Amino acid sequence: MFGKIIGTGSYVPERVVTNTCLEQYVDTNDEWIRERTGIARRHVMEQETTKDMAVLAAKRALEMAAVAPEEIDMIIVSTLSSDIALPSTACYVQDKLNAKNAVCFDLNAACTGFILAYNTVQTYMAAGFCKTALIIGAEGLSKLVDWSDRGTCILFADGAGAAIVRADETAVFDTVMHADGGQGDALTMKTGFAERVRGIDVEPGVEVLEANQNILNEKDTYIGMDGQAVFRFAVKQVPTCILELMEKCGIKEEDIDLFLLHQANERIVKSIVKRIKTSMDKVPMNLQEYGNTSSASVPILLDEMVRQEKLKKGDRVIMAGFGAGLTWCASYLEF
Ligand code: COA
Repeated sequence: MFGKIIGTGSYVPERVVTNTCLEQYVDTNDEWIRERTGIARRHVMEQETTKDMAVLAAKRALEMAAVAPEEIDMIIVSTLSSDIALPSTACYVQDKLNAKNAVCFDLNAACTGFILAYNTVQTYMAAGFCKTALIIGAEGLSKLVDWSDRGTCILFADGAGAAIVRADETAVFDTVMHADGGQGDALTMKTGFAERVRGIDVEPGVEVLEANQNILNEKDTYIGMDGQAVFRFAVKQVPTCILELMEKCGIKEEDIDLFLLHQANERIVKSIVKRIKTSMDKVPMNLQEYGNTSSASVPILLDEMVRQEKLKKGDRVIMAGFGAGLTWCASYLEF
C-alpha cells in the first residue's frame, strides 16, 4: 500500500531581496536576472534558521491534514543547508512538534531531495513500516552563497515546504530516479572540516600531511557552480526522465493535470515544457517570487497549488526535481 498527501504547509522568510538590491553586492541588474532566470525577488532569512523554517512548514501541514503529532511515525527532512548536523534536523523537528512516535532522519540529495524523501516514505509504506509520514524540504541557502559571486547569489534563496503522507489503499505511486556522480563538479560546496586537521597535535604522519594539502580555500565552502553545464544537464535529463516515467506508467501528457517542477530557472522550465509537449497552464511557476530554494522549491509550490485550489482531490501530478550530485528524478501521484 502506498500513501497519499493529505496536508501541505510552507514557510518563507518575510525579508525580500529584489534584483535591484543585489546590485549593491555584485555587477548585475534586474533586466539581466529576469531575462536569464525569470527571478524577480527572493526571500532571505534574518532571524529564522533552516530548522525553524522546517518546524513552521510542518505545523502548517499538520494543521491542514488535521493529524496529531503523535500519529506521525516517520519524519524525513531533506536539506543540504541545515544549521545543525547533529542532531538531525528531523529529530529537532520531532522534538518541537512533540511527535514522539516518529523515527527521524535527514536526507541530502540537493534540489532533488524532497521528491526522494517522498519516494522513501512511499517505499516504507509499501513495505508496511510506516503509516503516517511527515516530509519536509528546508533550505537556508543565503548562508551558503558567496555574495560576491554573481553566477550564484542571484539564484539561491531560503524557505521550507512540508507534506503529510498517509497510507491509503487507493494511493497511486511510481517513480524514475537517476544520479551521475561523475558530473558532481558542476555544482559543489565543500565542508570546512579539512581545516580541523591543522589544530590536531599528533606526530606528523602521512595522513596528516595529505589532509593538510587538502585544506580548503574559503571560496570552496560556498556553493560553486558551472551554470551552463547545469543548464545543459537539466534541459536534457529532466524531460527525458519525465517521459520515461510516463511511459513506465502508461500515461500520456493529457492524463496529467499538473507538472510540479523544481524551480531553478524559467528558461529551464520552458524548455522542459516544450520537450514533454505540454502547456505552461499545467506547469505552475513561483521562482519569480522565491528564486531557487533547492529541496524546498517543490513542496512550497505544492502547498501554494493546494491552498489556491489549483490542485484538487483526484488530480494527477508529476513532480520532478534535479540538482547537485548530479541527481534527478520524477514521481507520479494522484492527489
Ligand atoms: N549579471 C550580469 N551578467 C552576468 C551575471 C549576472 N548575475 N552572471 C553572469 N553574467 C555574464 C557572464 O559573465 C557572461 O558575460 P560575458 O559574455 O561578457 O562573458 C554573460 O553574462 C553570459 O554568461 P552565461 O554564464 O553564459 O549566462 P547564462 O545565460 O548561462 O546564465 C545562469 C547563467 C547561471 C543564469 C544559467 O547558466 C543557469 O541558470 N544555469 C542553471 C543553474 C541552475 O539552475 N542551478 C541550480 C540547479 S538545481
